[in-house]
Amino acid sequence: WANLFEPLGSFVVTPWLIMAAGTAVIGSLQFGYNTGVINAPQNIIQSFYNETWSSRFSEPISQGTLTALWSLSVAIFSVGGMFGSFSVGIFVNRFGRRNSMLMANVLAFIAALLMGFSKMAASYEMLIIGRFIVGLYSGLSTGFVPMYVEEISPTSLRGALGTLHQLGVVIGILVAQVFGIESILGNATLWPLLLGFTLLPSVLQCVLLPLCPESPRYLLINCNEESKALLMKLRGTEDVSEDMQEMREESLQMKKEKAVTIPELFRSSVYRQPIFVAIMLHLSQQLSGINAVFYYSTGIFERAGVSQPVYATIGAGVVNTAFTVVSLFVVERMGRRPLHLIGLMGMAVSAVFLTVAMALLDQLRWMSYVSIAAIFSFVAFFEIGPGPIPWFIVAELFSQGPRPAAIAVAGFCNWSANFLVGMCFQYVEQLCGPFVFIIFTILLLGFFVFTYFKVPETKGRTFDEISAGFRQSAGRGSDKYSAPEEFSTLRGDDPDL
Ligand SMILES: *[C@@H]1O[C@H](CO)[C@@H](O)[C@H](O)[C@H]1NC(C)=O
Repeated sequence: WANLFEPLGSFVVTPWLIMAAGTAVIGSLQFGYNTGVINAPQNIIQSFYNETWSSRFSEPISQGTLTALWSLSVAIFSVGGMFGSFSVGIFVNRFGRRNSMLMANVLAFIAALLMGFSKMAASYEMLIIGRFIVGLYSGLSTGFVPMYVEEISPTSLRGALGTLHQLGVVIGILVAQVFGIESILGNATLWPLLLGFTLLPSVLQCVLLPLCPESPRYLLINCNEESKALLMKLRGTEDVSEDMQEMREESLQMKKEKAVTIPELFRSSVYRQPIFVAIMLHLSQQLSGINAVFYYSTGIFERAGVSQPVYATIGAGVVNTAFTVVSLFVVERMGRRPLHLIGLMGMAVSAVFLTVAMALLDQLRWMSYVSIAAIFSFVAFFEIGPGPIPWFIVAELFSQGPRPAAIAVAGFCNWSANFLVGMCFQYVEQLCGPFVFIIFTILLLGFFVFTYFKVPETKGRTFDEISAGFRQSAGRGSDKYSAPEEFSTLRGDDPDL
């Protein structure tokens, strides 16, 4: 255990660094919060939709319209997220990292007001538009926060601080679930505050961000500004020559390796296979069904006969947070491939248990406990593999030049699949009843097979080695990823590189 903290040994964590990272991570909390917030109060807000509809059209809402409106309210968040994640590049290079984060809060303000006043204005449209805008904010944040935190961190701390984003997201989900308890904010009178709460973290971030430094990397590379004084303050030491040197090298490297556009990514034989792997991994993350749980678990638990579904949902949030912490330690130590495989298989097995539990509920009442256990293990296995690993692998499969394009494509697929699950889950559930998770089982097994045959190990390997592996497997049609020594003979033989 001692050496778990070994990477924390060789630097000074300055109060300034902590404040800057902590302030940025408010953006991650917001993303998590808005992912989890519509789960617990589903029935209450649906009644509001029904009442609003009745008073407008003098007839109760039909089940079909209600499902459509609610699915849209949940899933439009991901459409916002998609546009947001695509716009990250426009902001960060023009306005800088810190100011981009500051500006994005305008979106959170608008969204909070729209959602918070939707009840008063008797308008579910306001809620839906608010969800879209907070989705935009979340998409931007998921780009801004990791970038800023990585760039202000010293190399030795980058891994440890980089995990803060992920932790922020899961803690945000958990907070939203706890606030959703009926006696706190999840009731017919206070739910607008539950959704509007997102205003407070934004105010806090707006107060703190102006006190935080701009990323020294951005200043040097984008603005050609020497940021030595800033670095000395961040690092708490006079000697920042190593950092400066590293940034200059990165800057040179960036000038050497020209940026690859998205169409080039698909045309070039060098990138085609890795981008295919990246896309599939991101689809495996979202089509695993994880957001069916984060968006709809309270309803799932209710139908599984759980007497306090909101508390079971909170339990899932606790498991999620705990296993995120576990995975932080495991991911850096173990290979990506085995963890992703274990995660997918574990989720598939959990989904089978959940299905059995839901199907046998009428005969055996205690099956409701099996369904709780199944969902908890479903979430736990997600955080071991499919949660963190797709993001890791995309960054590791591509070098500086193609990386931004690859991340944009991966993000697009991720949010699209997220939308698909959010939008369709309720319909498919109405169609398949207790067997809805069988669909996820089949998808999970498919992704397991794909990962087994097509996804190379990336940990501790250079981009050259990885792409040589891809070319070799394309040439011979066989899987040789586990033998990196063979690649060394192939290195440098491709003029495309
Ligand atoms: C809408 O509200 C009415 C009156 O309270 C109720 O009878 C009806 O079942 C509700 N509709 C839906 C789809 O929940």
